[in-house]
Amino acid sequence: MSEKRSSFTGKIGFVLAAAGSAVGLGNIWRFPYLAAKYGGGIFLLTYIILAVTFGFALMCAEIAIGRKTGQSAINAFKTLNKKYSFIGWIASIIPIIILPYYSVIGGWVIKYISVFIGGSMSKSAGDEYFTDFISGTTEPIGWFLLFIGLTALVVILGVKNGIEKISKFIMPMLIAMTIFIAIYSMTMDGALAGVKFYLLPDFKKFSFVTVLAAMGQLFYSMSIAMGIMITYGSYMKKDINLESSVKQIEVFDTSVAFLAGLMIIPAVFAFSGGNEEALGKGPSLMFVTLPKVFNSMPGGSIIGALFFIMVFFAAITSSISLMETVVSIVSDKLGWKRIKTCLAVFIGSVVLGLPSSLGWGVLKDIHIGEFTILDMFDFASNSILMPIVALLTCIFVGFVIKPKSVIEEIELTGKFKNKKLFVVMIKYIAPICIVLILISSLLDALGLMKI
Ligand code: PHE
Repeated sequence: MSEKRSSFTGKIGFVLAAAGSAVGLGNIWRFPYLAAKYGGGIFLLTYIILAVTFGFALMCAEIAIGRKTGQSAINAFKTLNKKYSFIGWIASIIPIIILPYYSVIGGWVIKYISVFIGGSMSKSAGDEYFTDFISGTTEPIGWFLLFIGLTALVVILGVKNGIEKISKFIMPMLIAMTIFIAIYSMTMDGALAGVKFYLLPDFKKFSFVTVLAAMGQLFYSMSIAMGIMITYGSYMKKDINLESSVKQIEVFDTSVAFLAGLMIIPAVFAFSGGNEEALGKGPSLMFVTLPKVFNSMPGGSIIGALFFIMVFFAAITSSISLMETVVSIVSDKLGWKRIKTCLAVFIGSVVLGLPSSLGWGVLKDIHIGEFTILDMFDFASNSILMPIVALLTCIFVGFVIKPKSVIEEIELTGKFKNKKLFVVMIKYIAPICIVLILISSLLDALGLMKI
């Protein structure tokens, strides 16, 4: 390594930066519509149970691997066992795939901030507005470049001066804004029905698919199985309590997802007169349905602007973690200086992101079924590669290096309270569940099963 590895200054810095990575578009846009689709309260309950068992074990393992080796994914696996560096290689491909398309969506978010601040809210509530926008060429590319450029700026500033500083500033604001908008949304006429729908479990809607959907969301939302938490763990000081940090990150991530549901579901209910269909729109919920909802609210342009600023905060802290992970892999491997690596990663990501940005316009003929280019990248990383990496990580920790070596790292600062849970999850339950997710997402893609 050419430069000394930097680190987060303390526990708060670490927790907020890791939470910044975890809290992202997945929490604000994906979680509410999944919750609505899979029966509201029952989905919430399933998700929370999975987070404190499955998610907890995997996140502890990844952060401990990172801290123990002081390396990013590829070298971390290699240091622990030479034969298994291939897991690190696969893990490293994931952020390389996600960063470009995530930044394309991040660009859309900045566009919507400008729409709401610039007073064109009513135009954005039109049916074709969003489709017209993403089918363009220069406009979406411009916003994409702005988003990824801002991400690169923070990453260039480094772990302490860039990532930690911005997370300490952004994350508390994000929570405050989410709470404010959630309260506003719940007090609208007709919103209460939405709150009930969201919070009261409907056991009739519970099925195996609920668990699968919740588990898929958990991976994505907690940024696990893609080397990010290994990289952040490598910047964590040895005297910080790892177990309680993981718990705090989880509370942060789950609370923002929960609040996002409280913010979006009641508002959409109030707007649509209690029509659940309006929520099931999936991806277009945030860019098509919500602008209509804001347009119908008193003070909607201000709330809308605040909402998209908040989404931007959530998205940029996630893209920073993605870029940092890629930068750290490249500089660990090639020994380049930080600035040079950042520039190279920035340019590479721009090149990879352009096709995703153009997938509804110039390149709209390239698709597989309904999948555009962006969807293909999303599917390859989230539904295929992430479960594979998670599975390999469990097998690696459970049977190759043995849970003991991870537990030792966690116990550097005292007793590991949930040690038994950790061992059972990593060795048995998590691997079985992951195989099920993998099979079901393949079946889903082949059109044999609907998730
Ligand atoms: N965890 C982030 C979210 O919930 C998404 C993310 C995925 C971030 C991959 C970084 C890497 O949106």
